[in-house]
Amino acid sequence: MRIVFLGPPGSGKGTQSQKLQAYLKVPHISTGDMLRRAIQQRSDLGRIGEEYMQRGHLVPDPLILELVEARLAEPDCQQGVLLDGFPRTLRQAQSLDEFLAARGMPLTGVLELEVDRDELLRRLMSRRRQDDKPEIIRRRLDGYLEQTAPLSDFYEQRGLLYPIDGSLSPDEVFARIQAVLKQLESHEPQATSDC
Ligand code: AP5
Repeated sequence: MRIVFLGPPGSGKGTQSQKLQAYLKVPHISTGDMLRRAIQQRSDLGRIGEEYMQRGHLVPDPLILELVEARLAEPDCQQGVLLDGFPRTLRQAQSLDEFLAARGMPLTGVLELEVDRDELLRRLMSRRRQDDKPEIIRRRLDGYLEQTAPLSDFYEQRGLLYPIDGSLSPDEVFARIQAVLKQLESHEPQATSDC
């Protein structure tokens, strides 16, 4: 299965990805985690990425695409993958489409976690990540509406979008995700026997 998690900052993409990774047993690719690792390692990507992340802006598409496409080309991603925080712009979504289509590996579904702004603010304000300062959080949320929210239409038009109420408890959200996956599994092509 190739699944994308869509949703604003604080909607629970990371939390649900951890659960889903254990359930599906496919690699979890979080661009936010990859960038934070690059910052810790003081790589060129980390140095550039940090400037954007600290201000609550998206890291430029070419850097993100190079990072993700290199990871997706690794052998462990050939049977399935869970994408968290990517794609985040129309350009990223279109590039992902082209990358996967060229390899005959289409997306299975896009799970969109829906949570209202007050709850997102409450969740992020009570966390202590570097970019969880009030002004930066507001910029990330506004940036999401402007640059990432249009991806809902992009995936809906392709029949891939599955909205999920992300305001419930983590276990209840996960139960809803499992229900969607069962639906998706029943549409997946089955392996054919030789006889
Ligand atoms: P990234 O790390 O992807 O952060 P984000 O999208 O802002 O999302 P968060 O990690 O804040 O939230 P989440 O939805 O994962 O929720 P979580 O499970 O953590 O990106 C960081 C930055 O990197 C970006 O701003 C950008 O600069 C850059 N970047 C990354 N990807 C990029 C890309 N593709 N292109 C360009 N730039 C990119 O939960 C949040 C909190 O809520 C936690 O405390 C959690 O315990 C709690 N919580 C979760 N679920 C529930 C629940 N159901 N009920 C109550 N509390 C809950």
